[in-house]
Amino acid sequence: MIIAIDGPSGAGKSTVAKAVAQKLGFSCLDTGAMYRAVAWQALSDGVALDDAEALGNVARTHEIAFGHVEGDPVPRRVFIGGAEVTDAIRTAEIDRAVSPVSAVPSVRAALVDQQRRIGNAGNYVVEGRDIGTCVFPGAEVKVFLTASDEERAHRRVRQNVDRGVGSIDYDEVLADLRRRDELDSSRSASPLRAADDAVLIDSTKHYIEEVIDQICALAADAR
Ligand code: DC
Repeated sequence: MIIAIDGPSGAGKSTVAKAVAQKLGFSCLDTGAMYRAVAWQALSDGVALDDAEALGNVARTHEIAFGHVEGDPVPRRVFIGGAEVTDAIRTAEIDRAVSPVSAVPSVRAALVDQQRRIGNAGNYVVEGRDIGTCVFPGAEVKVFLTASDEERAHRRVRQNVDRGVGSIDYDEVLADLRRRDELDSSRSASPLRAADDAVLIDSTKHYIEEVIDQICALAADAR
């Protein structure tokens, strides 16, 4: 079974996806981390962010893998071409680079291939922007998770404080979220949008535990 969770940055997708996966005994896949890893590789190889062909090559020629910290069932570690980039992909520099990288059709094609290969191997909660519309249009459960801009910015600041990486300036984070939403929603290749058959959940008005329970109930109904 595939549970697709899409939505803008900071809506709580990662927290919710990981908790749902743990509750149901599913694996989980953070597709945003894959776009971030390609952006990191492009920057470290000196590839220009407007060179679509070179960016596509980076995505095609580097395997992305996930790993576990011992004792943690959630695969939080991220590798590209064998290099660990778990923290390096969460910086403000990558936040800025990832939108142009993820707008390139050949980058998307390469990563969607990898995502389908991974997800088709078992029961997965997959989070991203185009999972219900493009990567797994046949997903048994589709959720589009949103929250107000302000709430999302507050959450992202708290997350950056906890991780010790990324900006902790609220106004900067809010402006960056809005800029990325605009870029992600207006690009021509698989823009951010809810699938017609997705269940819309606004996490501003609900405790995260309620959202997790609601998605687990949708999964139980779909079995
Ligand atoms: O979820 P995130 O903030 O880590 O995602 C990073 C970027 O990757 C975001 O700007 C949008 C892009 N992305 C995408 O285009 N498609 C996906 N399935 C996941 C993320």
